[in-house]
Amino acid sequence: MPDPAIAAATRQVLDMLDNPAGRPCVHSFFDEKTFTATHVVHDPATRAAAIIDSVMDYDPASGRTSYASAQKIVDYVRENRLDVIWQLETHAHADHLSAAPWLKSQLGGQIGIGADIVQVQQTFGTIFNAGTHFTRDGSQFDHLFTDGEQFSLGTLRATALHVPGHTPADMAFVIGDAAFIGDTLFMPDYGTARADFPGGSARMLYRSIRRLLSLPPATRLFLCHDYKAPGRDSYAWETTIGAERAANVHVHDGISEDAFVDMRTKRDAGLSLPNLIMPSVQVNMRAGHLPEAEENGVSYIKIPINTL
Ligand SMILES: [Fe+2]
Repeated sequence: MPDPAIAAATRQVLDMLDNPAGRPCVHSFFDEKTFTATHVVHDPATRAAAIIDSVMDYDPASGRTSYASAQKIVDYVRENRLDVIWQLETHAHADHLSAAPWLKSQLGGQIGIGADIVQVQQTFGTIFNAGTHFTRDGSQFDHLFTDGEQFSLGTLRATALHVPGHTPADMAFVIGDAAFIGDTLFMPDYGTARADFPGGSARMLYRSIRRLLSLPPATRLFLCHDYKAPGRDSYAWETTIGAERAANVHVHDGISEDAFVDMRTKRDAGLSLPNLIMPSVQVNMRAGHLPEAEENGVSYIKIPINTL
């Protein structure tokens, strides 16, 4: 079956590989508290930049937010005189809080996420009883990306791909020859993302991953997380399609859909929820904004008892 979105992304990657001098520069920041890699990607020709999957610091004991991690990104962007066009989220994260609104206030850039975020807002708006003032139409974000949507970063061509499974709204952003794939594949020695959150599906995740793996083998992949792996004592967040196809422990070439679904389902059954899922989801479903302050001026995070 033809897949026009993958075909467009493939052409884009191959054209970039023919013109390696123009390849996007990627600088990554790793947050060891949440095991999250934030990527700053820019066009060397124009210095147009995108910040992908940023982290707001949050101390769950005190309920305090801070921006020491995000400040490092601000410093890097200013030192390198980058022009931030986009603040991209690959999905509504359950393990860290986004710093996108704060980074936008410091550096500019439109906050973009996948259009199916409205499904995630519906689900978690209900779970957290967020009330009617929490609109579930994606309007908290500046832009909602659809599958196959073409956009640009300076002179670089970019394609958005819908890659559901971990959540229903996950996106991968292919910019030049670099693909920012969020929580789909992890490093080859670690495997894949969990698929057991509300609206997640191991079967959908497998199909999204096989779609990604049909990109050219030399496509550079930038991951959202790393947790090290048996025999590896340093964090890593960059690999290639070719390396994943050859060696991903969960989904290398030859692993069938049913075998993957069976493995993923069994594995997910033994995982506990992320430490920061409660604050993360309530903030990230609002595009990184805290819940609306109550009449005393304080914003609160709710914990639904015996629900998740
Ligand atoms: Fe995630």
